[in-house]
Amino acid sequence: NYFGVIMAGGVGSRFWPLSTSEFPKQFHDILGTGRTFLQSTFDRMKKIIPTDQIYIVTLGEYVDLTLQQLPEINENQIITEPVAMNTAPCNLYAAILIHEINPEANIVVAPSDHLILQEDVFIEKLKLALQESEEKEELITLGIQPTRPDTGYGYIQFLDKKNSEVKKVKTFTEKPGIELAEVLYKSGDFLWNAGIFIWKASTILNSFQKYLPEMFESFEKIQNPLNSEKGKKEIKSIYSRVQMISIDNGILERAENVYVIPSSFGWSDLGTWKSLYEISPKNGGNNVKHGKYILTYNTNDSLIYSTQRKAIIVDGLEDYIVVNTRRALLICPKDKDQAIKAFVSDLKLNK
Ligand code: GDD
Ligand code: MG
Repeated sequence: NYFGVIMAGGVGSRFWPLSTSEFPKQFHDILGTGRTFLQSTFDRMKKIIPTDQIYIVTLGEYVDLTLQQLPEINENQIITEPVAMNTAPCNLYAAILIHEINPEANIVVAPSDHLILQEDVFIEKLKLALQESEEKEELITLGIQPTRPDTGYGYIQFLDKKNSEVKKVKTFTEKPGIELAEVLYKSGDFLWNAGIFIWKASTILNSFQKYLPEMFESFEKIQNPLNSEKGKKEIKSIYSRVQMISIDNGILERAENVYVIPSSFGWSDLGTWKSLYEISPKNGGNNVKHGKYILTYNTNDSLIYSTQRKAIIVDGLEDYIVVNTRRALLICPKDKDQAIKAFVSDLKLNK
């Protein structure tokens, strides 16, 4: 009854200008491992889930890229969204479709932008979570020990029931502002939400019915099989009206049956340039350089990333990100990595 859902429809705008809407970050091999983020996520999942039960939720324009990168899957394992409306609609769509295939389905949901170093430990945690969610009506997430007051994550506080690895969640706070993030981080009482979820299709569907009833009802009204041409037309009209909201804001912050498994498996979210900087080996001046022909002087704690055959010379930068691609050049303070999203939308307005 194990199914996998890989969410791969984000545009990864915080990784602009490498990640673009034509070629978002999940389809890139940013780390140079030989596998893209999507492929590595799939490789990990298939250690525990049969390949023909792993579904990829993505946008229509990325279907070809997905099939190219994952030749092992069948076209009907791609759940196609007409537009990106964030992760709540994405999870509802996937859960309904999988529930139609198998009403007992027990699902692992994973984002496609993570690095996991200790895969064995990761798989152990998933096994534990799957056993738990099989038996109980629980929404389970994996929690990571925070290392800084990052505003890009969900923060989870749990009730410590001794003897159990699965803890009941007391509060879930998605992307707090910096002041609150500092308080939560300093308290030592919170974990980061890894964004990896384990739940039965029926459990998450019940939660949608309870916490996002309008969204749930709009999907309920679909008359045709979801993977048919007619079904896809209905989906299109639903997506033109559906609320744009994340699963974290829409369900996890509100639900009472959320559980967390504290985990440590060499996790990093590769959501931003800063996170790439953090996990990369540093050279002189604590800089990370990726690309040819990069020279730095009096420059420290910076990331310089280039995909071009063009010399880049940097003098006098501290804590900066410099990214040079065919399409654009970005220079901004490393701490502004969350603001890149806003830069990209300003750029669209100015076009
Ligand atoms: N299909 C589809 N459709 N996928 C989407 C969409 C969409 O509309 N929007 C985002 N995704 C995919 C992204 O490609 C990514 O793999 C995943 O869903 C999560 O989306 P992000 O946009 O990267 O979320 P986040 O990083 O801001 O926050 C989430 O992850 C953090 C950990 O990395 C939250 O779950 C946080 O609570 C969590 O801490
Ligand atoms: Mg992310």
